[in-house]
Amino acid sequence: MAVLITGGYGLIGSELARILVNKGETVWVLDKWIAPQRFSGMEEKVTSIQADLGNFARILEAVKESSPRVIFHLGGMLSYPSNADPQSAFSTNVAGTYHVLEAARLFNVSKVIFTSTIATYGLDLQKPVIDDFTLQRPVTMYGSTKVFGELLGRFYKTKYGIDFRALRFPSVVGPGAKTAHISIYNAWAVEKAFYGEPYDIFVLPEIRCPVLYFKDAARSLLLLEAAPAEAIQTVCYLIAGIKPMSSAAELVAEIKKHFPKAVLDYKPDTLSMSIHSKAQGISYNDSQAEKEWGWKVEYSLERMIADFYEELRKNPDRYR
Ligand SMILES: NC(=O)c1ccc[n+]([C@@H]2O[C@H](COP(=O)([O-])OP(=O)(O)OC[C@H]3O[C@@H](n4cnc5c(N)ncnc54)[C@H](O)[C@@H]3O)[C@@H](O)[C@H]2O)c1
Repeated sequence: MAVLITGGYGLIGSELARILVNKGETVWVLDKWIAPQRFSGMEEKVTSIQADLGNFARILEAVKESSPRVIFHLGGMLSYPSNADPQSAFSTNVAGTYHVLEAARLFNVSKVIFTSTIATYGLDLQKPVIDDFTLQRPVTMYGSTKVFGELLGRFYKTKYGIDFRALRFPSVVGPGAKTAHISIYNAWAVEKAFYGEPYDIFVLPEIRCPVLYFKDAARSLLLLEAAPAEAIQTVCYLIAGIKPMSSAAELVAEIKKHFPKAVLDYKPDTLSMSIHSKAQGISYNDSQAEKEWGWKVEYSLERMIADFYEELRKNPDRYR
């Protein structure tokens, strides 16, 4: 049977699709924007559906046509675009997630894996450690839409028996990331240095932010999907990322080991700084994911940056 990935042309979705194709799975990807270079060399192994998640009829058609055993629902608008255009974020992230779950129910798809975010945490954090049980009170449109997605998925699990599972990712870093979000400087600083272009990091050098390499993100989705149903107790899992968390200055130091002349400056942005500064001193505990389905990060900061550059060298067209 097939696998359907919404947002399958995005940073994480396209990596997930590549892994699944290499495992011999039948892969369908649904996205609003098709970027053919993402699958160069394996175009014929991926079936693309160009559709807007906000269009219920198109999502119904896509799920009916692909008839997947599982939907990886990754399509969505990230923090900056959702903040700039909350109305479209509602259509894509809120209505879109409802459309995916409803289509899964109507066409008997037994499993839906959803990508949420640590941006679902926000107001009045009571403790310095965030875990799966910390109250989620986001301060952004993006975070609010993702809390809704998690809760709607839990409801479909209880009421209709859909095997819904979700991950709350930290900032995911990888080559060819196109979408701006409040932590994207982590990926773009690495990438701009490779292309010899200057880049302004939009937080202060001391700001620490949890990050996860895109290969680890894709692997975590596959591990979660493969876990036996009885192991899934918590349902929506926090993924903490690389430990210890690096500051922007430590990220730059690592980049400069590869590109000593990289021109990376700091120009803090108000929205990003207001969110990041509230999260300083906080740590993330993902022991439930480790306990229930064996999650462990593989890429350290050093390994992540070395592999990022290796990817850009090996696949110059894929990530442009
Ligand atoms: N990148 C991160 O740091 C991060 C962190 C936490 C959670 N996540 C979540 O992981 C998922 C994948 O993120 P990513 O980093 O690959 O982002 P991405 O922006 O690279 O991918 C998202 C994809 O969704 C597609 N999309 C957007 N609006 C759509 C619409 N209306 N209809 C159909 N497709 C639409 C985009 O074209 C894009 O290809 C998202 O749900 C995101 O919220 C990402």
